[in-house]
Amino acid sequence: MFAGYTIRLPENVSIAMNETRNFTPLDRFLMRADEAVRLSAGAAPPPGRPNPAGELVSGELDGEERRHVAGLMRVNHAGEICAQALYAGQAATARKGGVRSVMQQAADEEIDHLSWCESRLRELDAHTSVLNPLWYAGSYAIGALAGLAGDRWSLGFVRETENQVEAHLQEHIERLPDSDRRSHAILDQMKIDEAQHGRMAEEAGGRALPQPVRRAMAFTADIMKSLAYRI
Ligand SMILES: [Fe+2]
Ligand SMILES: [Fe+2]
Repeated sequence: MFAGYTIRLPENVSIAMNETRNFTPLDRFLMRADEAVRLSAGAAPPPGRPNPAGELVSGELDGEERRHVAGLMRVNHAGEICAQALYAGQAATARKGGVRSVMQQAADEEIDHLSWCESRLRELDAHTSVLNPLWYAGSYAIGALAGLAGDRWSLGFVRETENQVEAHLQEHIERLPDSDRRSHAILDQMKIDEAQHGRMAEEAGGRALPQPVRRAMAFTADIMKSLAYRI
């Protein structure tokens, strides 16, 4: 875990995770397992920024539209679970220094995304993906591997992930009913943030990943998306 890496807890308590503290491997495992369970169950920490949906009023959604929007927002929520796990995994194995501030700012904003998606699902009376613990565990492992590959590859992984997420969000924005102004506002802001995360990772020295890796990432994300839409 990065020195100074902060996890915001639901009770408005912050714990500064400092590498100089001697967490045992068991401590770390338990902290990660606790986070996975909490986030998966739909208990995101409070967002640092206001929900972009604010006081916007969405038009009436019929039953089918409501199910569709819930599916899309469940996918986006699951994607943000993955983002938390990826950053945690990368942080656990990152070499040092340079990537820290990039990762920290992005990770904080991903908490906002997670929380906003969770709120929208709640408004729609919809559940989060039952497979969230699986997404978390898989993403943590992938993030840890990316971190082991070295900081420039790890940043390259962030850059590519964010590029793919940005394209995915654009697709979802187009698939949302026009009348669902609340979901639109959330996804619009997320798309702006993800583009910024991608640029930050690139400017911090992130390498362009080889094409087969990019394709494998897109393939894995497609499996997650098609499952999370339904369950
Ligand atoms: Fe995000
Ligand atoms: Fe992001």
